[in-house]
Order: sequence, then structure tokens, then C-alpha cells
Amino acid sequence: MILTSDEQTMLKGREGVAKQKAMELLVKYGEALGAERMVNTNNVFGGVVAPIPFVRKFAAKVKDIDSIFSEFNLDSGNRVTIPQVKVFTCSFLNSLDPDHWQMMGANESTYKLQMRMEKFCRRIGINLTNTCAPYLVGNVPVKGEHCAWLESSAVVYCNSVLGARTNTEGWESTGAAMLVGKIPYWGYHIDENRLGTHLVNVDINLNSVMDWNLLGYYIGELVQEQVPVFKGVRSIPNLNELKSFGAALASSGGTEMYHIVGITPEAHNINEAFGNKKPVTTLYFGKSEREKAYNNLNSAKDQNVDFVTLGCPHYSIEEVWEVCKLLKGKYVSTNTNLWIFMSRPIKALADRNGYTEIITNAGGYIMTDTCPVYSQLYPKGTKVVATDSAKQAHYTPAVMGFETWYGSLDDCIQAAISGEWRGELK
Ligand code: F3S
Repeated sequence: MILTSDEQTMLKGREGVAKQKAMELLVKYGEALGAERMVNTNNVFGGVVAPIPFVRKFAAKVKDIDSIFSEFNLDSGNRVTIPQVKVFTCSFLNSLDPDHWQMMGANESTYKLQMRMEKFCRRIGINLTNTCAPYLVGNVPVKGEHCAWLESSAVVYCNSVLGARTNTEGWESTGAAMLVGKIPYWGYHIDENRLGTHLVNVDINLNSVMDWNLLGYYIGELVQEQVPVFKGVRSIPNLNELKSFGAALASSGGTEMYHIVGITPEAHNINEAFGNKKPVTTLYFGKSEREKAYNNLNSAKDQNVDFVTLGCPHYSIEEVWEVCKLLKGKYVSTNTNLWIFMSRPIKALADRNGYTEIITNAGGYIMTDTCPVYSQLYPKGTKVVATDSAKQAHYTPAVMGFETWYGSLDDCIQAAISGEWRGELK
């Protein structure tokens, strides 16, 4: 890679060992991918590696979080003291809700490790957003801004809806990027890689989060890691629809970027979306494709629902408001648990607006900082799950082996109240 003088200075260790390790890691990563240079970034979304089992085992043998960061974020066999981050950095999810860790069935040592990790983040300047949707809590990069983000649903939103630029980074590359403000210039940082590959003719009205989930889930599986361009969309989607749409695309496929002609910022028209290229193929989405996606997401047989999980990706305040309109004055079945996931700033708004009271009075819980697929912590005895998220419905049976129902928010709230799944495709 061709390095600038400030990059060479850090690589030679003149700004300390941690930055040297970070540059070594980024150069190795960039060279493996054929990147010719680095690009500056002032927006990192990452954090200290999550306290998953092998990290917990390692943590028991070392004295501080600097050792964990050195090993897992910087790939350094030797402990280095981690300095303040150089650029604006927000944290991804944690493995438990610090206010409900016992109810989630987490053990005390994991809780304590997470709290030590949070203290470490505060010390080095990582902003504790603890969410998978940083764009809901103030981290909204502008069009063309180079970022270093992890988490597939956030990455696809960043590239496609905001027009900012990131690849799907990992704990290691974000750990290094936050210390030096650099990331290899490849993939979606480069103009030509952002152009469309597949044309998708949408021949159906898209009226809800569920419709957008089904479109994303169906097309993601077909295009995998390519760049679909959606044509024929007759209404303008809102933030919640696009949040779920990208998460669905990135679950059944590995989509990191898409265009919607006339709506997303790099697709004012079809020529702009494809550049001078022709689509490699043309796909179609209509009534029967929508039905197929719905059926693929509904793998459950048992209609008795133990657990309703909402907030994947983490809910916006508008979505919490929608829940409250359906739940106010009702009660969650004694056979069912209702957990609704969001970030702490959104919960603070929910508290202030009286939404938390409505949800807790009904017997539901607002959960923060984590999600069930990531934490792999579910209410005790869970066998059958219901969700309004295609992403959650995709991963829950695969990761946990639970029967899973997928449907609208209304279907999910009715399931929480009755304890039974009665959802259907309307
Ligand atoms: Fe976020 Fe967890 Fe869904 S990380 S996108 S809530 S699977």
C-alpha cells in the first residue's frame, strides 16, 4: 500500500505502540484485499469485542480490558495500553441489558465484565450508544462521508439510504480505525463498486414495514452480495421501512448496498444507479414472490407463542409509539413474554412520553443495549417465538432452534395478548 507520511509515522511507532499495532493490522488487511491506500475516517461504529464465551475465558486470565482489546481488537499477542480514540466512535450492542441481566438469565461474571468494558470505553472515548441503529441516536453521516462501521443492517443503511461509504468492518478493523482514523480504501468506498448490478422490477404496492421486509428477504437471497436496483416503487418509504428492508436484504443475502430509483441518493434515475453498465439480470417481485417470502419466514407449527420479540433492528421512537397504540389498556398473556429492544436514548424518550409505563403496565418489558439473537439469551423455557422482523425470523431458528412466526406488528401484539399466533398474509 502507498502510505502518507502521517500513516508511516504511526506505522513506525512514533505515536505509540497501540497506534503502531493498529496500522500494522490495517495495512495487512488492506493488502490482503488489494487496497492501494488508506482513506481518512472520522466516523467509526464498533467497540470492544463482545463478552462472548471465548472472550470471557480469556478475560478470566488477564487483569484488564486493555489486554482484551490488544488480543481481540488489535490482534496483538502482547498487551498494549490503549490510548484515547483519535476519531468519533460509537459502540455496537452489548451482550446483555444491564437493568435486566438476571431476567435474561445472564450470569453475574458476564454482567461484571460488561460493566468493566463500558468503563474502559468511557476512558478511551468510545460513545456508549450500544445499539445496532446508530443513525437513530445522532450518528448520521452525510453523503460521501467515509466511515468504518460494522453490523450488516447498519452498513446497508449507511451506504444506501445515507449515501455515506463503508464496508462491513469487524471488531479488529474498527478497533484499529478508531485509534488512527484510517481504513483501507476498497469496496464501497470506491465509486464504481457502488453501481447497481441487478435490476428488480417491483410490481406491487409496498404499504408497510412488513411489505418492505418481504421484498428485502426475497431479493437478498437472489442477489447475495451484489447491488440490486429497485424500479417501480410507487410510494416513498419511511425510515422504519428502510431500516427493516436493509436488515432483511442483508440477512437472506449479504447485501451491503442497494438503490431505489427516484428515492435513494445515488439513484436519481436508472442511468445513475447503473453508471455505464448493463444489469447482469432482471428480477421480478410481485404477489406470488411476496407470498413465497412470507412462507419461507414462517417455519413454525405450534401456535402457542412463548416469546414475542420486537425491535430488530433496534426500534425508533415512532415504532415504540405504534406499539403503545396497540397495547394500551391490554395485558400480555401469562403464557407469553413481550420484550421490546431499543437503545437507551430511545428508552429515555419512551420514559418521558409515558410509553414505558404503558408497556410495563401491560406486562411487557423495554430492553436496551442488546438483542436476543446477539445475546442468545431468551426467557426461560422459550420454544416458540414471534417477531415482526425478517432478520430476527431468519436467525432465530438457525441460531437457537426455536420455532418462529413472522408477521406484522399487529400480529405480534395480538400474539402477545392472546398467547397464540393468528397472523396471516393479508
Ligand atoms: Fe440489531 Fe440484533 Fe437485529 S443486532 S439488527 S436487533 S439481530
